[in-house]
Amino acid sequence: MKILFVCLGNICRSPLAAAIFNHKVIELKLDHVLISDSCGTGNYHIGGAADDRSIAVARKNGVVIQHVVRQLTADDLEEFDHIIAMDRNNLANIKRLPSAKENYEKVKLMREYDPQGPGDVPDPYYGTEKDFREVYDILDRSMDVLIASFQKS
Ligand code: 4NP
Repeated sequence: MKILFVCLGNICRSPLAAAIFNHKVIELKLDHVLISDSCGTGNYHIGGAADDRSIAVARKNGVVIQHVVRQLTADDLEEFDHIIAMDRNNLANIKRLPSAKENYEKVKLMREYDPQGPGDVPDPYYGTEKDFREVYDILDRSMDVLIASFQKS
């Protein structure tokens, strides 16, 4: 099963989401069945690396981010089984793609899986280290619920 995490720039939230997901999936020995990637709806940072602040907060938690920024394509909606948007703007942009209509049910918000309740994963780009820690915590607890949902299905 292939899971795609989507944010705006593909430098802060979605590479962190994919790295946390991969870390947990390897620990559960599910890495042969649950494959993830990340991308952005925007094109600002294509070909670049993840934000240093996401790399740092990941590393502090024993999680490694290795990612080259890429932009979401219409083909992604066909190729991936689950598309997980970080916020409602990302969701709206995903749903604007030509291939979105027939793949509508694949697209979800990350915090639909947050045990502390729904909402957006806040964009930390103009924020501080504390904002990155908050994003990490949201992703960490939401990912457990997301992965458990795959184990049930
Ligand atoms: P991300 O954060 O969507 O979590 O990667 C952002 C990164 C870059 C920009 C905005 C948000 N930007 O405007 O360049």
